[in-house]
Amino acid sequence: MKTKSSVIEKLITIDNIKDAHRAKIYYQIYSSTQKSAKKEADFIVKVLNLQKGSKVLDLGCGFGRHSIELAEKGMKVVGVDISRSLLKIAKERAKKRRCKIKFLQKNFLKISFKEKFDAAIMMLNTFGLMSDKNNERALEILTNLLKHGGKLLVDLRNPGRLREGKIYKNPEIIKGVRVWTGCVYVKQQKRVIIKRTLYLKDGKQYTYILAVRLYFLSELKKLLSKHGFKITKIFGDFSGNPYRRKKSPRLIVVAEKK
Ligand SMILES: C[S@@+](CC[C@H](N)C(=O)[O-])C[C@H]1O[C@@H](n2cnc3c(N)ncnc32)[C@H](O)[C@@H]1O
Repeated sequence: MKTKSSVIEKLITIDNIKDAHRAKIYYQIYSSTQKSAKKEADFIVKVLNLQKGSKVLDLGCGFGRHSIELAEKGMKVVGVDISRSLLKIAKERAKKRRCKIKFLQKNFLKISFKEKFDAAIMMLNTFGLMSDKNNERALEILTNLLKHGGKLLVDLRNPGRLREGKIYKNPEIIKGVRVWTGCVYVKQQKRVIIKRTLYLKDGKQYTYILAVRLYFLSELKKLLSKHGFKITKIFGDFSGNPYRRKKSPRLIVVAEKK
């Protein structure tokens, strides 16, 4: 029997394209974000105080943007993602760059490890992709995967910058592909609904809709505290600027397992 949360799960991602095809397109369009991943990885190392040999878990690692950068800096990285095809790309990229990374295809609500990690990261709204209940469940699982004093970094879009009901449009051309993104913040659901259409070079179109849960700092604080974490640092972007509720593009929180 379907639980309520699995129904919500279905509703928050409308994307019926096959995993392999989506991964290929996703990588084609977003491989350019690898440039920002370098800067983000430097930031991660600094704010989490990672050392060579630190064990880092990259949850929802995608095609390995941060996993690879961190492994190159000497961290022992495990990347977990549900998408087999994105992981295939991640593995190929890691091999090309001669990095040793353990990539695992798994739903992060079902992961368990014998080892404990020094740190975990959830980048690019990964924490908000599921139902509220499952996002919280992910925190519960994470608590058991980190060492005492282990660090967690959650990177989310800042809801404080979005006006309720306003449609934000962003037409772009990325690597010759026309990408149209529209998004609207629905306060009642605390989610930003993102509709993106990619006009591929072969004339085909691909549209997907996501409803990403956004958290205000106060809510995130409560959730983290409930699951044994204490927030130690808060930033508004990857340049390390302080978080401003109405202005910052991101809400980046570093928390420590108590
Ligand atoms: C927004 S992408 C971020 C990817 C990557 N962290 C980055 O910054 O490029 C979110 C990733 O989380 C993965 N994901 C979503 N739900 C998941 C789940 N329940 N278990 C494991 N991975 C999941 C998706 O396949 C996707 O690769």
